[in-house]
Amino acid sequence: MEKKNLLKDETFLQHPYLVAIFLVLSFLVMDPFHLGPVSEHEFRPVKHNIAPYKQVMKNWPRDNMSRLAMHGKLEFENEVFGPESLEFDNMGRGPYTGLADGRVVRWMGEELGWETFAVVTSNWTEKICVRGNDSTTYKQWKHEKRCGRPLGLRFDKENGDLYIADAYYGLLKVGPNGGLATPLSTHVAGKPILFANDLDIHNNGSIFFTDTSKRYNRVAHFFILLEGEATGRLLRYDPPTKTTHVVLEGLAFPNGVQISKDQSFLVFTETTNCRLMKLWMEGPKNGTVEHVADLPGFPDNVRMNEKGQFWVAIDCCRTGAQEVLSNNPWLRSIYFRLPIRMIYLAKAMGMKMYTVITRLDDKGNILEVLEDREGKVMKLVSEVKEMNGKLWIGTVAHNHISTLPYP
Ligand SMILES: *[C@@H]1O[C@H](CO)[C@@H](O)[C@H](O)[C@H]1NC(C)=O
Ligand SMILES: *[C@@H]1O[C@H](CO)[C@@H](O)[C@H](O)[C@H]1NC(C)=O
Ligand SMILES: *[C@@H]1O[C@H](CO)[C@@H](O)[C@H](O)[C@H]1NC(C)=O
Ligand SMILES: *[C@@H]1O[C@H](CO)[C@@H](O)[C@H](O)[C@H]1NC(C)=O
Ligand SMILES: *[C@@H]1O[C@H](CO)[C@@H](O)[C@H](O)[C@H]1NC(C)=O
Repeated sequence: MEKKNLLKDETFLQHPYLVAIFLVLSFLVMDPFHLGPVSEHEFRPVKHNIAPYKQVMKNWPRDNMSRLAMHGKLEFENEVFGPESLEFDNMGRGPYTGLADGRVVRWMGEELGWETFAVVTSNWTEKICVRGNDSTTYKQWKHEKRCGRPLGLRFDKENGDLYIADAYYGLLKVGPNGGLATPLSTHVAGKPILFANDLDIHNNGSIFFTDTSKRYNRVAHFFILLEGEATGRLLRYDPPTKTTHVVLEGLAFPNGVQISKDQSFLVFTETTNCRLMKLWMEGPKNGTVEHVADLPGFPDNVRMNEKGQFWVAIDCCRTGAQEVLSNNPWLRSIYFRLPIRMIYLAKAMGMKMYTVITRLDDKGNILEVLEDREGKVMKLVSEVKEMNGKLWIGTVAHNHISTLPYP
């Protein structure tokens, strides 16, 4: 088909005028029967704060050796399903990880293997929720809300409690022996938390966590990216008073959160804007937000190593074509109403999936970049955790954990 060939050419889409002409012509075949990928939503694309593509890519070091692909190893294949966040307990056991089937599981060594550690709701049943390696497919979507989807995990270093950010059940806590987690925070300012995503624990006991959007839940997260909407928040749960407070709002897909080693600031990723941000929590700049780094793709979680440096997992990548759509919300609203299936639209935008992980210092200086340039070994990475001479790499959409000897 003529149209498809045109769409295949990424450079074509980098010229706004050509895109506009193409889209105007496309009105002729526009979705009168509401078949387009976003037709069931009230789609409101907006301009968002993303750094210019060329400027970011020009300064971004490349890993010409594609070291992630070369040295990375897939472990636990078809034993874990979408292990988003990886955590180790105070005795060094683990990893613990949250799965697409709603469970938090832990690795107990070769002999015992994986065991179910916790679930986030009494609604969870094996019959309805456990779907093996189909858990990471669309087959789980209609059950997710009931079964839960544990994302960010953190152990309290003092007492061994595990804190869980669940995409549907908010912030929860479970004791060192696991079981059914207790909800801590499900509402803020009288409204339900729609999409809790990640958390970290301050030394003073406060739990900082992200709520990705007020409008879309996890299954619909792609629309947050497409719209560029910024209704996400950083929240703080205060254990003594059992209250939840809004710390920051108007964020564009706030995702990973990590408190600094000296507790003077925290960093968080804004996935839609492809960047890492910092919130000061002490000193003269207390309460102010600073930009730390622009990234070549869409960041997920951020985790600190023992030196106080930050590992960011990035799904790649931004493209020039996206940039045009990004800067022209009106183009986006037409583009994504075309009666073409989402996958072709993504392809047309030149979205080749590959993986970048990076280590940054507190000023955003790039200390290391590791890539899987073809996305052969690792795709859709969600977290990088440096532990026991290895990088442990989670993924939200695949059924394995990747590891890499490190340093
Ligand atoms: C990596 O490749 C790019 C071009 O793809 C080149 O400009 C750069 O010099 C290379 N870097 C190294 C360290 O080889
Ligand atoms: C699903 O898991 C089983 C093992 O439980 C494995 O044999 C099979 O290849 C997996 N399917 C896919 C598509 O990975
Ligand atoms: C069970 O699921 C329903 C519907 O999704 C929800 O309203 C309810 O709060 C859940 N119950 C518990 C105990 O989590
Ligand atoms: C803990 O620190 C945070 C960040 O400075 C602050 O917002 C919170 O009020 C503190 N909590 C207590 C109990 O001091
Ligand atoms: C920083 O600001 C927060 C909220 O504005 C406040 O709760 C906290 O006590 C302040 N911390 C310091 C060390 O001043």
